[in-house]
Amino acid sequence: MGSKRWMLSNGLGELVSAEAAKAGRFVDLFSGSAAVSWHVATKVDVPVLSVDLQTYSAVLAGAVVLRTRGANPSRLLDIWLEGTGNLVNEPAVRGSHSSSLSRARILRARRECATAAGAITRAYGGHYFSPAQARAIDALLGSLPAREPDRSVCLAALIWAAARCVAAPGHTAQPFQPTTTALASIAEAWSKDVVQIVKQVLPTIARLSAVTRGDVITDDATNVATKLTCDDLVFLDPPYSAAQYSRFYHVLETIARGQCSAVSGVGRYPPAAERPSSRFSLKGQALDALQILLDRLRMSECRIVMTFPQQRSSNGLSGESIVQAARGPFEVDITSVVARHSTLGGNNSARAARRSSQELIMVMRPRTRSRGRSRTRA
Ligand SMILES: C[S@@+](CC[C@H](N)C(=O)[O-])C[C@H]1O[C@@H](n2cnc3c(N)ncnc32)[C@H](O)[C@@H]1O
Repeated sequence: MGSKRWMLSNGLGELVSAEAAKAGRFVDLFSGSAAVSWHVATKVDVPVLSVDLQTYSAVLAGAVVLRTRGANPSRLLDIWLEGTGNLVNEPAVRGSHSSSLSRARILRARRECATAAGAITRAYGGHYFSPAQARAIDALLGSLPAREPDRSVCLAALIWAAARCVAAPGHTAQPFQPTTTALASIAEAWSKDVVQIVKQVLPTIARLSAVTRGDVITDDATNVATKLTCDDLVFLDPPYSAAQYSRFYHVLETIARGQCSAVSGVGRYPPAAERPSSRFSLKGQALDALQILLDRLRMSECRIVMTFPQQRSSNGLSGESIVQAARGPFEVDITSVVARHSTLGGNNSARAARRSSQELIMVMRPRTRSRGRSRTRA
């Protein structure tokens, strides 16, 4: 999670802060881990609107952009952990698997978890999480504080902690399988204590708050674009993978929603109807989707800051094709930085989970229309 976190401290953060300070609102249209939304919300006196197709993104964004006061982390942890009836302190939930993990033991764990009552244990226990980790996540989900913003802060901490524990290579498209070579990786992931990580992560999130209260929307960026105005500074970090993001983040999505229908396949995916699908991740449609989005943002007269890998990505888009598409409706200024980003298996030249790549930062201003035509707001 947090593909833009590294870039924020390497030029992007200063640029979006300076541009957002001149706007009436900052709109993060593909907010993902909410790293950019959090950055602007906590630093600039401007409301942030975070938009993404996925619910987990709305939870992460909302945990900060919807609050203008820090939350007390010890109070939150006390209420939350007490609500589990101390279950999260029991060895069955906090047990370690660092030694004596075998293929047979993993397969047995999978069989036992498959009939569990808890949604996370049933879907992912023995796969992405050890049975103990999965039970802990279920227990924590079941005792989330009812009141907002406490609930969102705790749920965001749980999503973050779960992302750190998954027994998978960097994302949740597929868990490690119990082969001889992967046993050590599974053992390492299963040895992580979810509750301990929640205790570490929650204070970081709880202490953050927005300078001005913002909003979150779970919707298609293209729908939201029609409702924006010339006061909005829009940040665009669209998909660069030809695989749907919901394939990589379904475990976090299930935790955010607290449930999913029966899962299937090696990746333990919920049914397709429960996984948001984006035209930006379809190779034959991504450019058209981007063109429509840019046209709508031009109609709404928004200024844009956009990032994208310079080289061609697996969804067919490249920095160059984006500049070409944008140059009709917008004046485009380009800055380029070397960035580290997750390829999600989507880069054409390598399958490494993380690699260095050149990423463009573009600032776009709507071109003024020719004389005689009126400037309209959507
Ligand atoms: C490259 S990631 C954004 C990463 C984010 N800036 C961060 O720092 O974590 C792209 C995001 O776009 C979302 N997405 C894909 N298609 C979308 C659409 N049509 N509307 C809104 N969000 C979309 C995905 O769910 C994913 O979270």
